Amino acid sequence: MIPHIPVLLNETVALFEDMSDGYFIDCTCGFGGHSEAILQHYPNVKLIAIDQDSDALDFAKQRLSKYADRITFVNKRASDALGEFANLPISGILADIGVSSYQLDEDARGFNFNSDTLDMRMNQKQEFSAYDVVNYYSKEQLERIFKEFADERFYKKIAQAIVTARKHKKFTSSKELAEFIATLIPKGKIHPATKAFQAIRIEVNNELEELHKLLDATLKISNKGTIVGVITFHSLEDRIVKNTFKQWQQRCICPPEAMRCECGRDNHKGYVLTKKPITASKEEVLANPRSRSAKLRGFRFR
Ligand SMILES: C[S@@+](CC[C@H](N)C(=O)[O-])C[C@H]1O[C@@H](n2cnc3c(N)ncnc32)[C@H](O)[C@@H]1O
Repeated sequence: MIPHIPVLLNETVALFEDMSDGYFIDCTCGFGGHSEAILQHYPNVKLIAIDQDSDALDFAKQRLSKYADRITFVNKRASDALGEFANLPISGILADIGVSSYQLDEDARGFNFNSDTLDMRMNQKQEFSAYDVVNYYSKEQLERIFKEFADERFYKKIAQAIVTARKHKKFTSSKELAEFIATLIPKGKIHPATKAFQAIRIEVNNELEELHKLLDATLKISNKGTIVGVITFHSLEDRIVKNTFKQWQQRCICPPEAMRCECGRDNHKGYVLTKKPITASKEEVLANPRSRSAKLRGFRFR
């Protein structure tokens, strides 16, 4: 069984419709769903398949074995890997940011409310995990991540309660943490720990900074005609992509308060392909509820 259903698959393949040859970099290959569709639709394109999660990449290697001679697999963080491909003719770059369904569902990875571990690392080589955030962050640090990364209304209450409780015994599992948070705040439509878990996950994987770095690296290695697609799953990430693409499109990058242009008005890197983000159809949301919050944006370098 394939442990992850790719979102916006047809829309993503269509975004790259002008691509005829060269290299396609899938920065978040995961279980290979998007990569497979790209390999099928663009038979003259070679694929560089990156993922920081070795479990996912092992699965993708099996799944895509019939295309093996067209693929290079890279088990790294995308922002660290992209620079290696600066001299290649790159036709497309895709990043389907966030966690996979496998990571969310697999108890051992610590992302879900029933996990016996307190982990949440996408990259198994990294040492820093949810255990460190929950047991060693100060009250102020916890407040900041709950508020900034998840807009959690009860950020102060949860942070204070964690700091008090861990004096007696450290938290060792996501299950224990989820049950603890559920005792603190009212039940709603979603599990009471959903937002806190989102914040901890973003912090553990440094997701927002990584997205900035990935986009910076993309800018450095793209050529004339390179198409970039980014799929995000929450508004903080989507805002980063939207603003970055907008900035890449602008001729003048002087600050708004500048009296006159001093940048030379020569900063235009290309065109935004999606005025509004592409979102999942009703049918897709019904078939795969995790597609509900997905947003795809595209950019083409000139
Ligand atoms: C939403 S899944 C991608 C699923 C994939 N498109 C598919 O069709 O199977 C996200 C994957 O990206 C990986 N990932 C997220 N951010 C990454 C990054 N900055 N560098 C490398 N891999 C990343 C995660 O480990 C995860 O396997």
